[in-house]
Amino acid sequence: MKLGHVIESQQFTLPMLVELFEVADQMERIIARGGTQDYQNKIMASLFYEHSTRTRFSFESAMYRLGGKVLSTERANTFSSVAAGETLEDTIRVVSSYADVIVLRHNEIGGAARAAAISTVPIVNAGDGKGGQHPTQALLDLYTIYKGVKTIEGVKVALVGNLTDGRTVRSLAYLLGKFERVKLYFVAPDSFQIKQDILDYLTKHNVWFARESNLKKILPEVDVVYSTRIEPELLTQRGERLETISQYFIDDTLLKLLPSHALVMHPLPRLHEISPTVDSNSRAVYFKQTKNGVLIRMALLASVLGY
Ligand code: CP
Repeated sequence: MKLGHVIESQQFTLPMLVELFEVADQMERIIARGGTQDYQNKIMASLFYEHSTRTRFSFESAMYRLGGKVLSTERANTFSSVAAGETLEDTIRVVSSYADVIVLRHNEIGGAARAAAISTVPIVNAGDGKGGQHPTQALLDLYTIYKGVKTIEGVKVALVGNLTDGRTVRSLAYLLGKFERVKLYFVAPDSFQIKQDILDYLTKHNVWFARESNLKKILPEVDVVYSTRIEPELLTQRGERLETISQYFIDDTLLKLLPSHALVMHPLPRLHEISPTVDSNSRAVYFKQTKNGVLIRMALLASVLGY
């Protein structure tokens, strides 16, 4: 598989996902052998306009494990010529002459697509704006579900938290919607519910979904609960109180409602959504997600750079 720009989840077909997961499995074996030098002549630029721990480090780790080189700025708004007023388009024109692939996190919805329209090298969307997309996170999430429940067909997933702005949930909903008999429960208070564009896409593709506000009711039904942050600074803006939101926080009591085979997921970083007491439970896979992120990002970089 030769990938070009990676901008949104919808661009991935089922055969592409199968191949990507096979390559990710191979990458696990390559890491166990100490990595490879196959990409020693390749350079990845990681251009981040927003803070990140997992996405930037895992992409950089992935590139190093492939033998490649990395150019990086973790706060492009402050430390690159963006601070002098340079446009995204000019920055991309310049950086695409220095690197073979650009991993871009941008603060505006559509930032990655704008970059792709200009770039002479592949752009990988590492998250664009509040309510945009984060396709590589969704790919590692899907891979973790696949590893955890074995078959994605028929999987029942509760997506919980700030579904309005959460780009990981949006990208994951698009990906899950590609599989047969999937059931998606969007669990949030009305002020943080999923936007109509996702529901329209799921309806068009005959994907079963429900919008819910009661997490306790849904937990016994699902194979996966995928929790996301509700940023405290948004609560007052949306007319919500922390006490109302706390019903969506997963602790040992809520965990008892979840089937014994089910997975507890979170893209991280977390605030209060999952109690640290849940971490040692075998169903908690959010740190597996971060590890799988390196495998999936190695597979993506190899696919973009050619193998
Ligand atoms: N999940 C995720 O995107 O984390 P970072 O913001 O730390 O990259």
